[in-house]
Amino acid sequence: MGINQLSLTNFRGLKSTTLDFHSQLNFITGDNGSGKTSLLESINVISQACSFRTHRLKQCISHSHNQLLLFARFDSHKVGLAQSQSKLDIKIDGEIISKRSDLVKKTPTSIINTDSFNLVTGTPSIRRNFLDWCLFHVEPEFVVLYAQFKYALKQRNAILKSRKDLNTIDYWDAYMVKPSLIIRGLRNEYAKTIANILKEDLSILLGQMKLSFEYEQGWQKDQELAESLKRCRDRDIKMGFTNLGIHRDNINIMTKGLPVAQVLSRGELKRLCIALQIILLGIVKEKTNKTMVLLVDDLGSELDVSSQKLILNLLTKTGVQLFITNIDKSTSSSLRDKEYKMFHVEHGIIKARKTI
Ligand SMILES: Nc1ncnc2c1ncn2[C@@H]1O[C@H](COP(=O)(O)OP(=O)(O)OP(=O)(O)O)[C@@H](O)[C@H]1O
Ligand SMILES: [Mg+2]
Repeated sequence: MGINQLSLTNFRGLKSTTLDFHSQLNFITGDNGSGKTSLLESINVISQACSFRTHRLKQCISHSHNQLLLFARFDSHKVGLAQSQSKLDIKIDGEIISKRSDLVKKTPTSIINTDSFNLVTGTPSIRRNFLDWCLFHVEPEFVVLYAQFKYALKQRNAILKSRKDLNTIDYWDAYMVKPSLIIRGLRNEYAKTIANILKEDLSILLGQMKLSFEYEQGWQKDQELAESLKRCRDRDIKMGFTNLGIHRDNINIMTKGLPVAQVLSRGELKRLCIALQIILLGIVKEKTNKTMVLLVDDLGSELDVSSQKLILNLLTKTGVQLFITNIDKSTSSSLRDKEYKMFHVEHGIIKARKTI
């Protein structure tokens, strides 16, 4: 289970309503522009206080209103969220919280949509974020380590930019290296775990694809970070920022010796992105046993019906609560032995259609 009930008011084009969800499987249908993605987005906002569509939550306030309200009952807690033009208030079980991470930690939520391709075709930061999402939920010390690293990097960059207090760089190097090496170790370890699962468990989804998933540190191979930072210091001073470090880490996803984006078809890339998401959800679920939510927007795009069926089958086995839009009718009806709920959206009005 994850989210049992959601009440929404003034969220984008959706009419105010209260919805009771199925504990495992929820399908959302409706014409273009009816509000399907908005409904997924509202679930994302109430569970993570962020949107997969915008960095500015106030864009989610319905036009001609000043505030949006969301209220949800999760298994173990209730969350209320109010976003006005000027501020965001979040309450968990009636208590105002100040740190977004207090909410995020409770119900890991991820999204598969057309942007998911960026995981394999986009910049290294997207792949780092992918791994870090897992570390955030699984490794208790990660949040503090990452905050320490970010703080040191910010200080170091400020010094490099201003070229003042350059004599303190040694101090900031040492400050930065300590958490960096632990994070490097964690990223490397989890990348290996993912690579092994990719090889062994998901051949049904990936067919004959021979894939490698390898962590690459953001400084010269076989060199100590402290040493690399020292060697690169003149260049850093010249450029005004830190060129090397874990903020330059990458994950190389390759097949036949080439980056997957150069070899695989769109459908294959989508299957790979979904496989990677399934692996990550599996790791977090196994290590934390938290209730989790997966939002899948437009499952049908780029995938033929047999791929959709295969993926839907795998997703239902993950044990996370699913919200899926745009699924082919024959795909959902192939789930004969599964219970689910269906919601239909029409001009922003959401109606529960049938419960099986
Ligand atoms: N802040 C807002 N206030 C009111 N309406 C909005 C707001 N933001 C977006 N909309 C409208 O909400 C409608 C629903 O958009 P949404 O993306 O949820 O549709 P959808 O059902 O996912 O469509 P598609 O099938 O094309 O993906 C759109 O017509 C959009 O213009
Ligand atoms: Mg949509």
